Amino acid sequence: MSSFINNLSSKLPTISTSIFAVMSQMAKDHNAINLSQGFPNFPVSKQMIELVSKAMRQGYNQYSPMQGIIELREAIAEKVSILYGINYNPETEITITAGATEAIYGIISAFVNQGDEVIIFAPAYDSYDPTIQINGGKSIEIELKAPNFKVDWQEVKNAINYKTKMIIINTPHNPTGTILSKKDMQSLEALVQDTNIIILSDEVYEHIIFDDQKHQSAVLYKGLAERSFVVASFGKTFHATGWKTGYCMAPKELMHEFRKIHQFIVFSTNHPVQKALSTYIKNPENYLSLPSFFQKKRDLFLEALKGSKFSVVPSKGTYFQLLGYESISEENDLDFAIRLTKEWKIASIPISVFYLNNMDIKVLRFCFSKNDETLLKAAEIINRIGK
Ligand SMILES: Cc1ncc(COP(=O)(O)O)c(C=O)c1O
Repeated sequence: MSSFINNLSSKLPTISTSIFAVMSQMAKDHNAINLSQGFPNFPVSKQMIELVSKAMRQGYNQYSPMQGIIELREAIAEKVSILYGINYNPETEITITAGATEAIYGIISAFVNQGDEVIIFAPAYDSYDPTIQINGGKSIEIELKAPNFKVDWQEVKNAINYKTKMIIINTPHNPTGTILSKKDMQSLEALVQDTNIIILSDEVYEHIIFDDQKHQSAVLYKGLAERSFVVASFGKTFHATGWKTGYCMAPKELMHEFRKIHQFIVFSTNHPVQKALSTYIKNPENYLSLPSFFQKKRDLFLEALKGSKFSVVPSKGTYFQLLGYESISEENDLDFAIRLTKEWKIASIPISVFYLNNMDIKVLRFCFSKNDETLLKAAEIINRIGK
């Protein structure tokens, strides 16, 4: 190998190809049912397809404004006002992004400097830590303890110091399917009062919440909203993860800094999709129907899993269900997930990938954002494992 190649130094030496890509490919190679990566296998609404096609035919095919089209930002402001009774200024406080991923990358990049600490809760969505690392920051991981994965706010308090630049919360939570309560949000609000800590509130599953629970958005808490970026994903909400369109909201001074980064990551995002969404989200039924739509899927899956040897704590939100296999095998979760994909033809995600130290708690994550036939077939396989 040339010395040039030998001398390359990786900015992310410990990071390899995401497990989501690996498991999805493995599912394909072994013809397995893929409940690993979080994406639906049912169609996007016909109306949305029609609206995007129409926008393309009408000529919305060039760059959109850097912040996103104003019609969509206004429609988001209206939606947030309907849902939470809080007003965001569409001109200065809302930006359309290339999925939630770009928003997360931009927010962290805009504020985290060399040596800064960012508190994350593990298991944690996998993009947070690499983005913190790229910017020279350090993730301070606080463990959510199985099986209920509740936040210990005293532990958070102990972790906060003068280096703490940001706290990242995620409710409903991927991968555990737990949600933060009003009390949790109030505890966080009290902890950050009189600090300079910025909150990144990842709320991509805000519309996938069950059992009549109310989503506790950071926008609802004054002491949080004044320092928070709220991140959302239309891909997650409207079964169109491939369209990679999301947004973030924050007070204008914070948003001003975010846009400096956003303009050099993507400048702007998919124009016809923005155009279509600005019409589609004006009908509240399109998002208000989602909790019951997904709860039916969770309930169908869990009912069909009765009698399996896996341990279950029902998901409270997101379209993920954790299943514990402690009474089935002593294999580590990565080996077990690989074996299930190859031998049993069912793909899942091992939870260890969501911990910085790859802790193995003998739990797998299954995505139930699938049609009923797929869920029943998957449950039939899972029920036979370990018997
Ligand atoms: C918690 C969480 N945040 C952010 C994202 C990224 O969303 P998007 O596909 O809109 O980039 C995901 C996707 O799985 C997620 O689970």
